[in-house]
Amino acid sequence: MLMEQTLILIKPDAIEKRLTGIILSRFEALGLEIAGAKVVCATEELLREHYANLQGSPFLDGVLKFMLGEYNHLPDHRIHAFVLRGENAVARVRAALGATNPEKADPWTLRGQFGCIKNGVMQNAVHASGTPEEAQREINLWFKPEEVLK
Ligand SMILES: Nc1ncnc2c1ncn2[C@@H]1O[C@H](COP(=O)(O)OP(=O)(O)OP(=O)(O)O)[C@@H](O)[C@H]1O
Ligand SMILES: [Mg+2]
Repeated sequence: MLMEQTLILIKPDAIEKRLTGIILSRFEALGLEIAGAKVVCATEELLREHYANLQGSPFLDGVLKFMLGEYNHLPDHRIHAFVLRGENAVARVRAALGATNPEKADPWTLRGQFGCIKNGVMQNAVHASGTPEEAQREINLWFKPEEVLK
């Protein structure tokens, strides 16, 4: 049995559409445990660190604007962040998300159902860590140790 943790971010497009509950219920249906939960008003600094792998890429600016909620009508930069835990959690959650590009994501996946491309940016509803190593790095970035169940 491979117990893993993974970081989930409900992105501003999904928050504006009030999809957090629906998205979480899909992860709960997979038997995953919520080990951490918080609302974060994300700063550009935090998001640049989170997307360090995109440094130098032509779409980083668009991704930052999107993640800062600049295409939304909400008054702040809120993101709903969760640590989920369970067997093989990283790969299972990524499978539930579908492809990065919502127009290519399978229709039964979260991004296939709730994502779209707008303002030239993939508004793909949910982030999830890509590997267990990425998950540890990202959980440390978004959560303090005492905010995650042991
Ligand atoms: N080819 C691309 N064209 C435009 N935007 C892209 C492209 N690839 C990635 N992005 C944007 O950068 C973000 C991060 O890319 P990454 O390769 O980490 O994909 P991901 O792991 O599926 O998504 P995320 O990390 O946001 O959950 C994507 O969510 C998307 O908004
Ligand atoms: Mg990624």
